[in-house]
Amino acid sequence: MSSGKEKFHGSTDADRINLELDVAKAKPMAVNAGAEWPVSRREFIKGVGVTVGGSVVVPAVAQRKGDAVALVPSANPIPLTLTINGEKKEFHVDPRTSLLDLLREDMGLTGTKKGCDHGQCGACTVLAGERRINSCLALALSYDGEEITTIEGLAQGEQLHFVQQAFLDNDGLQCGYCTPGQIISAIGLLSEAKKGAPSVVTHDLSREGPIELTETEIKERMSGNICRCGAYPGIVAAVRMASRTGQLKAASPSSEGRQTDAAL
Ligand code: FES
Ligand code: FES
Repeated sequence: MSSGKEKFHGSTDADRINLELDVAKAKPMAVNAGAEWPVSRREFIKGVGVTVGGSVVVPAVAQRKGDAVALVPSANPIPLTLTINGEKKEFHVDPRTSLLDLLREDMGLTGTKKGCDHGQCGACTVLAGERRINSCLALALSYDGEEITTIEGLAQGEQLHFVQQAFLDNDGLQCGYCTPGQIISAIGLLSEAKKGAPSVVTHDLSREGPIELTETEIKERMSGNICRCGAYPGIVAAVRMASRTGQLKAASPSSEGRQTDAAL
């Protein structure tokens, strides 16, 4: 049998879940050597999810069948309320459901992309309130009651959101697969900069007020969003343009819009 690390990076889901089961089983033995797992599967799933290597998993609900592992559908879907793109929605979800799968599979909002499914590419970025998150790593239940904004929620009819327009104007895309995540991430970035949240490349941490979005700042703050086509020059230019447009909109007393505009 290969090492745990090799198993995790193996290509099959069964390999990954096997490793996750092994990790989960090791935990109670560390605090109660020789004892059986002290918590029932159902109690465990009510209380906690486990992340291993960036994957959202709840290993207590996986069952071994010989060498195969099957995920058991939850017997107790849990109620969940989310406001998605301004509309309040109610669900009953398997507690293992990621926010990304809820959006794509249950809501049909396929603009949010699944790239790596491991928190490494940013294709799945959505806004929770004004905060950008990787929805592939987010358990949907963790966001009960929150406002979620996806790429589908930005345009007002035919009127594109100004960050979308900036990406078009600056050729900030090629194949477009990463683009929804890039645009949502850029909106989160503008909001963070406006609030003065520093990044690791911010020089003057004593300065109050909005952060100036230099090219270095933009590159650092967008570094969680990977573009396999290498459209980075256009993406940086788009974020700079959007930053200027956002400042103009903020200065305009007649500017209106959803929370994503209002935050800028
Ligand atoms: S799909 Fe979520 S970060 Fe890659
Ligand atoms: S435009 Fe193709 S991955 Fe970014």
